[in-house]
Amino acid sequence: ASSWKLADHPKLPKGKMVAVVVLDGWGETSPDKYNCIHVAETPAMDSLKKSAPDKWRLLKAHGTAVGLPSDDDMGNSEVGHNALGAGRIYAQGAKLVDQALASGKIFNDEGFNYIKQSFANNTLHLIGLMSDGGVHSRLDQLQLLLKGAGERGAKKIRVHVLTDGRDVLDGTSVAHAETLEKDLSELRGKGIDAQIASGGGRMYVTMDRYENDWQVVKRGWDAQVLGEAPHKFKNAVEAIKKLREAPNANDQYLPPFVIVDDGGKAVGPVLDGDAVVTFNFRADRMTMLAQALENEKFDKFDRVRMPKIRYAGMLQYDGELKLPSHYLVSPPLIERTSGEYLVNNGIRTFACRYSHSSFKEVDTVFLSMYNSETVKFGHVTFFWNGNRSGCFNSEKEEYVEIPSDSGITFNVKPKMKALEVGEKARDAILSGKFDQVRVNIPNGDMVGHTGDIEATIVGCKAADDAVKTILDAVEKVGGIYVVTADHGNAEDMVKRDKKGEPLIGKDGNVQILTSHTLHPVPVAIGGPGLAGGVKFRKDVPNGGLANVAATVMNLHGFVAPDDYETTLIEVA
Ligand code: 3PG
Ligand code: CO
Repeated sequence: ASSWKLADHPKLPKGKMVAVVVLDGWGETSPDKYNCIHVAETPAMDSLKKSAPDKWRLLKAHGTAVGLPSDDDMGNSEVGHNALGAGRIYAQGAKLVDQALASGKIFNDEGFNYIKQSFANNTLHLIGLMSDGGVHSRLDQLQLLLKGAGERGAKKIRVHVLTDGRDVLDGTSVAHAETLEKDLSELRGKGIDAQIASGGGRMYVTMDRYENDWQVVKRGWDAQVLGEAPHKFKNAVEAIKKLREAPNANDQYLPPFVIVDDGGKAVGPVLDGDAVVTFNFRADRMTMLAQALENEKFDKFDRVRMPKIRYAGMLQYDGELKLPSHYLVSPPLIERTSGEYLVNNGIRTFACRYSHSSFKEVDTVFLSMYNSETVKFGHVTFFWNGNRSGCFNSEKEEYVEIPSDSGITFNVKPKMKALEVGEKARDAILSGKFDQVRVNIPNGDMVGHTGDIEATIVGCKAADDAVKTILDAVEKVGGIYVVTADHGNAEDMVKRDKKGEPLIGKDGNVQILTSHTLHPVPVAIGGPGLAGGVKFRKDVPNGGLANVAATVMNLHGFVAPDDYETTLIEVA
């Protein structure tokens, strides 16, 4: 369609290869020993900062700049890559759910009315991440949902909790479970049979992503749906406390447990006629469970029993697959992303495929490549493309995936597949077949989330090595690079007080910060293909991730659509 046609940039040429490199979890803050990026040797990233001050700057990557409810909200990969790819700021899931709960609209819409049909005679199950991190879910939203369901006729409610420790401090699961128990006991006071039915750590139970390891989802299924788990307790707070006592136990990886009655029977398996809501708003770590709950045909693991349920997601997690078909709040409708524009303006694409099983060679010439390893794969495709799981044009795009290590925590192998990602990108650049090579380098984030400082330092160096490999290739082909990050993580590994001093926990040690941060991220441009006189404008001081898309379009020789956030560059 002609509406896809982008205007030519008045000054910048077409035909330059542009490498877009996203370092995951790579923010900027003052140097100290908890700043792993500072401690690690990172000559490639350092030189970007030092060598060309007018081509390096910081970008906002958290809060309202990426569509989150407030500036107290840390950034994350979903909203970060959404903004990078879409070039505009959309009210994100967290905010949309807040609004729907505040207005009460959530209780009047189709999704809630659908599950409500189970309230009179059956159980309402709520499954999701028990956290106030605001990345995948929020406890206060769960609380309002519980209250609203109680007021609207739910007679029996079972909550299946996943403990966090990744978007929030490790150990906060206990306080969260206590808060939830208090709410549930209030509901019981009103004659509603409400209790926690099962639990487990998010990284070991249920919340896998990108089909990295279906066993994670199976463990959850067994506990939540079948009522079977290796650990049985009478009470969830006691369960979490007890399981945390095991050596090296933490919230992220708690084993699955079920709550049983005095007779030893699970209190909350999912039965025919029940309603199920997955209360996470973020998609990536819920789509696998959503498939298991919704799809008739399913061969990823043996479900044993497939109850006939009314299932709704907090949001629809995949708009293209219409998964799930019922949902409580409509997701942000992210349209006309930069990837779709570029494809429609002749940019041929070599991209990471969302599903490795459907990988197929295509003999078209490709001009652009998105590349990451499995655990971050959907970030530079699904999120970048406005939460779409496929290509825009499979003739012109190819998605390549580098398999992640699975079944390990990444402090064990902190280099991850950075070398391979860098080399794949290098080969694609050197092949001369691509207009754009898009890469996500996951180490800062994935190793940062383990809270292991030594390992995170190793990971940051590996990420920097990959950047160097890519920049060298850009140099050789006379291309352009854009190096940035989606949010902070590895640059601060400790929880701090208001003055910025590390907080000490009850055990006398500093409180390790496994989560993302509120810090800005760097963005640097350069390369031999960059036209003379191009530099960052001074009049976009509040620039954020959403400004990158227009910038990249310019570097491909196009002017971005009018409603995109403004470009960061000017041509002197
Ligand atoms: C996760 O899902 O691993 C974390 O909650 C958020 O990390 P990400 O936003 O970097 O994916
Ligand atoms: Co992260």
